[in-house]
Amino acid sequence: MNPDLPAALLDYLRPSRVALAIASAEGDNHLLAVSDRFFALTGYDPDELIGRNCRLLQKTAANEEPRARLREFLGNPAQENVRTLIVNFRKDGTPFVNLLYMSRLRSMGGKPSYIFASQFDVSRSQPDLLSDYDQELGQTLRRMTPIASEAGIVVEGTLLTIANSAATVAQAKMMLAALESEESA
Ligand SMILES: Cc1cc2nc3c(=O)[nH]c(=O)nc-3n(C[C@H](O)[C@H](O)[C@H](O)COP(=O)(O)O)c2cc1C
Repeated sequence: MNPDLPAALLDYLRPSRVALAIASAEGDNHLLAVSDRFFALTGYDPDELIGRNCRLLQKTAANEEPRARLREFLGNPAQENVRTLIVNFRKDGTPFVNLLYMSRLRSMGGKPSYIFASQFDVSRSQPDLLSDYDQELGQTLRRMTPIASEAGIVVEGTLLTIANSAATVAQAKMMLAALESEESA
């Protein structure tokens, strides 16, 4: 965990029921802190990821379209958030389709300070579990707001919940199946 981040915020995020990650808004967006669930999801130990960019989770996947969407968000301070499916791999090489949400934690001075993210393996899930995750993430963001505010940080962006969980899960499962058939070919 990073000493630069307010302790109250870290204490709130670490035991979260959803996977969370916070990166620097500067440079190559190196990771500053993650929740315990992030490690459970990816299989990486804290030491292996903190200080590095999360793109290492993509290993060899091209992910052209989702990466372009993420870069667009990162390059445009007026865009409040982004949500996309992206192919990732756990440390042991198992692929999964990650539903990635990203928004900003902005310092009161107006300069973006941190990028906030949450991850969910939608390719091994079910529509009702995705809805539960969505609600949990929305609640995490709402409860984080006063804690961050105490530390002079504004939580930006209202979570755009997934309108059709069944379609999203189906799409992710198709992406995973295509990936697995490529790998076995
Ligand atoms: C806080 C944060 C968390 C991120 N989490 C993930 C992730 O879980 N999986 C992923 O594939 N990319 C993740 N990214 C996105 C990549 O780090 C990177 O921004 C993306 O691949 C687009 O940039 P690139 O084309 O230069 O790689 C995250 C980025 C940030 C800032």
